[in-house]
Amino acid sequence: MVANIAVLLLGGAAACVQAAAYPSHAPLFDYERRHLTPSHVSRWSPENRALFRFDSDEDFQKRDLRQRKGECKVFPGDKDWPSDKEWEKFNKQVDGALIPTVPLAAPCYKNWGVYDQAKCAEITARFTDPYLHTADPASGMWPTYQGRTCLAHDSPNDNCTLGGYPSYAVKITNVAQIQTSINFARNKNLRLVIKNTGHDFLGKSLGAGSLSLWTHALKDLDFIESYKSDSGYRGPAIKVGAGVIFRELYDFAHEKGVIVAGGICETVGYAGGYFALGGHTPMSGYYGMAADSIEAIQLVTADGKFITASSKQNAELFWALRGGGGSTFGVVTSVITRAHPKMPVVTTTLFFGVGGDVTNDIFWQGIKAYFEQFPLWAENRAYTFFVVGPGFFDPTQLSFALVPFWAPGHTIESSNKLLQPWLDRLAELGIQVTPNVTRFDSFKEAHAASWPGITVGSVGLNNNRLFPKSIWEDAGKFERFMGVLRRHVDEGRSIVGYFQAPRNRLNVDNAVSSAWRHANAFLLSGAPIEGGENATQAQLQAAAKNNIEYMEPWRELSRPRDFGGSYGNEGDVVEPKWQEEFYGIQYERLLRVKGKWDPKDVFYATTAVGSERWEVRDGDWGTQTQMGRLCRI
Ligand SMILES: Cc1cc2nc3c(=O)[nH]c(=O)nc-3n(C[C@H](O)[C@H](O)[C@H](O)COP(=O)(O)OP(=O)(O)OC[C@H]3O[C@@H](n4cnc5c(N)ncnc54)[C@H](O)[C@@H]3O)c2cc1C
Ligand SMILES: *[C@@H]1O[C@H](CO)[C@@H](O)[C@H](O)[C@H]1NC(C)=O
Ligand SMILES: *[C@@H]1O[C@H](CO)[C@@H](O)[C@H](O)[C@H]1NC(C)=O
Ligand SMILES: *[C@@H]1O[C@H](CO)[C@@H](O)[C@H](O)[C@H]1NC(C)=O
Repeated sequence: MVANIAVLLLGGAAACVQAAAYPSHAPLFDYERRHLTPSHVSRWSPENRALFRFDSDEDFQKRDLRQRKGECKVFPGDKDWPSDKEWEKFNKQVDGALIPTVPLAAPCYKNWGVYDQAKCAEITARFTDPYLHTADPASGMWPTYQGRTCLAHDSPNDNCTLGGYPSYAVKITNVAQIQTSINFARNKNLRLVIKNTGHDFLGKSLGAGSLSLWTHALKDLDFIESYKSDSGYRGPAIKVGAGVIFRELYDFAHEKGVIVAGGICETVGYAGGYFALGGHTPMSGYYGMAADSIEAIQLVTADGKFITASSKQNAELFWALRGGGGSTFGVVTSVITRAHPKMPVVTTTLFFGVGGDVTNDIFWQGIKAYFEQFPLWAENRAYTFFVVGPGFFDPTQLSFALVPFWAPGHTIESSNKLLQPWLDRLAELGIQVTPNVTRFDSFKEAHAASWPGITVGSVGLNNNRLFPKSIWEDAGKFERFMGVLRRHVDEGRSIVGYFQAPRNRLNVDNAVSSAWRHANAFLLSGAPIEGGENATQAQLQAAAKNNIEYMEPWRELSRPRDFGGSYGNEGDVVEPKWQEEFYGIQYERLLRVKGKWDPKDVFYATTAVGSERWEVRDGDWGTQTQMGRLCRI
């Protein structure tokens, strides 16, 4: 029965870990074999037990929410903040992996003692490169939420401060370190955050005064040729480590002759925040949301235990983990996802704009005809990514870019056929286009050609809506919808859009928001901030207010009661009624699961399930940054 015994050395004490039966029906990764069970604790000194013990079931039941109202997680400088000696003990217990935060751009300032003009110049030049931030233990990609207290500008005499960065990060290379960190954070009442890549558009991988778990190094991948899951799935699967990014996953899948339904930007992680809130994918026409393909999850829960979740084990937790959000129920260490058959992809790009005989009116008739095609394209499993707004060719004129129309499993002929009704209409309107049609043998090649690098690091605010298909079924609503979009763009704003319809193609039961299941279009538009990266508090407040208000006409057409909503992974951090907007009909049930698996709120992230019980006291910025204490409301 005992298939594997892993010996691990922790804090000098040898412990045997039995990784015998594999509840997920696939072997643990090496880094997962290095885990702890509560029985180890009994061998530790009383001092170590106080710091690193697991939570027992009894402790869970004893907890009384009311006792802690108004209280905060401990903060640097508080009398309860761990002493230097305790931090040292902790560092020893996690094999020396503790990293005190030095802000990414500290070499640009003198006050950290690491001033280096050349290094600063390099950081400044690369600040928009996602790889710069993924390689840093603490950095997030959007300075708005960090508080902009250490921007990458050569400013030797200014102060660079931590702002919303964590106080410490642990570079995770095994599960025992995650367990020890969770236990330490819970026992010492520390704020805990998890950072994988730092892409989060709401700053959810940041937190002032926190201990951060940096999962980026968990890069293992395993191909399981004939996987048998608890749900009854039989076929190929890939086990994906928590730190794997899309680029790595697509390369690996390609080598094995399969594909995985993942997202469009190569640097985003698969098994972190992405699938946790559903995860949209250009393969949605075939496989729905990314979370729908996931068959088993390994994770560490708030009590410190390392467990498996699948449709037969901890089934309700498994339900919640697929759609209910990251940093909420536990720290995921790996997931097992279905691998889908290879298929060719045909992409078509095209552009047009106002100018010559194409008036603003004619332009909008062309856009309207484009939107009218969505139901036909949904039926045929296609997907599009597009931008409407001022400025691709001529900053004073409106333009439209389809980059691209994405038709998986199609031939050039069948893809062209899907586009023909719209192209005919454009010709009728006198709009000239030159479609660039390309057939790729594989998902990997099509993905790389369609979405090369992307830049981050800017200061702005996000917003988006998921527009339900019912709009397309009601001519009056559809007219209103087009009118709202036109006004929006004519007022000088842009729309970045995806047409996709991630119905429940695999027929699974998970927590993916009801809005996604009914969507035909996912449209994004962020608010500009006057003053840009140096905006004052008042300027940021005005932008944040504007970001809510100008979306109101969009919101009216996509209310949760009509199965509309907003995608929490790319949403507004101060979205009113985010519970129903981000989670749809699933929220109440998710809140119950949260209460059962994390009754002490060890895990918190802004707009995560249960986060309404807490606030980050960052001052009055108008939007929610992470540069303050985390306290109970
Ligand atoms: C350029 C860009 C392109 C994008 N493209 C897409 C797309 O095509 N489709 C799509 O759906 N979304 C897309 N997104 C949104 C993306 O899904 C979110 O930003 C997501 O949060 C990123 O997850 P991460 O783990 O890489 O990032 P992080 O910022 O590291 O983490 C995000 C959240 O997940 C939590 N988390 C991370 N790891 C774990 C873990 N192991 N266990 C538990 N919680 C964890 C973090 O605490 C945080 O709350 C894109 C974002 C960007 C910036
Ligand atoms: C930086 O911080 C120090 C110490 O808090 C302070 O004395 C100094 O005036 C600050 N400098 C600037 C430019 O704000
Ligand atoms: C057409 O698209 C393909 C694939 O994206 C690209 O490689 C090629 O350069 C494009 N051709 C033109 C003329 O833009
Ligand atoms: C913001 O301030 C920094 C430091 O003073 C400066 O270098 C930078 O150019 C400013 N940015 C903008 C957009 O004005």
